[in-house]
Amino acid sequence: MSYKQTKVFNVDNINDDDKKHEYIRNAGLWIKSGEVVAFPTETVYGLGANALSEEAIAKIFKAKGRPSDNPLIVHISKKEQLGELVTEVSRAAEKLMDAFWPGPLTLIFKKKGSIAKNVTAGLETVAIRMPSHPTALELIEAAGVPVAAPSANLSGKPSPTTAQHVYHDLQGRIAAVVDGGSTGVGLESTVLDCSVDVPMLYRPGGVTVEQIEEVIGEVAVDPSLKDKEDTPRSPGMKYTHYAPKGSLTLVKDASNIQPLLNEARGQGKRVGVLTTTERANHYDADAVIACGEREDLASVATKLYDTLRQFDQEEIDVIFSETFPNVGVGVAIMNRLEKAAGGRMI
Ligand code: TXA
Ligand code: MG
Repeated sequence: MSYKQTKVFNVDNINDDDKKHEYIRNAGLWIKSGEVVAFPTETVYGLGANALSEEAIAKIFKAKGRPSDNPLIVHISKKEQLGELVTEVSRAAEKLMDAFWPGPLTLIFKKKGSIAKNVTAGLETVAIRMPSHPTALELIEAAGVPVAAPSANLSGKPSPTTAQHVYHDLQGRIAAVVDGGSTGVGLESTVLDCSVDVPMLYRPGGVTVEQIEEVIGEVAVDPSLKDKEDTPRSPGMKYTHYAPKGSLTLVKDASNIQPLLNEARGQGKRVGVLTTTERANHYDADAVIACGEREDLASVATKLYDTLRQFDQEEIDVIFSETFPNVGVGVAIMNRLEKAAGGRMI
């Protein structure tokens, strides 16, 4: 399917409240009628379609160029919607929903037959989350159906944190995008499997393991998150992701970065460095991009995908990045950076 023009519903900084709600309602109705519409969540922009319609869901896979074995997250606006989607809700899941919904935590449940087959890529489980972004909640409400939505980027690219990122990747490939400005968290939701006896982390994200364990005690961690040779339990985690066009290498000891930049420059490459405000003036490169503040890892998460996209705009061939501590949201930051770098770390 191709669209002559992707409609933009701008609800960011709009003074007229009636107009704003009308735009969101219209976007919701488009989803209800089988169209694909991108919308802001508190993590990244999602590309939504009716989770009960196989035909609508097929449009998501086509627009993104997403492999059909990679299941989607179903977004709901109220807990009562769970009843039509899942067969059982464990005690741990109940506690986590009370603690973190609406918010950046996706839970995996045993699924019911009402969900379109292609949403779950043939699996017996379904991933569900309730986003906290008011526009997302209003849109799902207006759609009147559960909304399946992957991140609204072309498959393999960094996830979009602005409507401009979405438009850049998907204009002409989707019906519409609701522009709600920049997203907040900046990295995707945490994915936790609650369909097994001991809940297992599949993807680190906006809610940290430390926060989860405070509520339900110790959780298991998919071994593939530590040992890159293992096959991930979550199909999406096996693909290369978030990659900028230039080749990205993570450098554990930041004092090695300038010599590496010099060497690559000597070979005629355009070079870039991903750093933070604290160290930005330490480097000489074609692009020195401060991705938030090291002292505040949440600010790094917020800017990470936009930073990766900026290196593309600057047509940088070779990028070196500082690394971040593997604690709190740093775990998710390092997980995305390692994927973007295809595992290159020195
Ligand atoms: O923050 C987010 O989660 C964003 C916003 C839009 O909500 N969405 C998002 O979706 O990141 P996506 O499709 O880019 O990532 C979904 C991840 C993939 O790694 C997929 O394999 C995994 O969730 N997943 C979905 N259903 C699953 C299931 N039944 N079992 C295991 N993994 C599943
Ligand atoms: Mg994605």
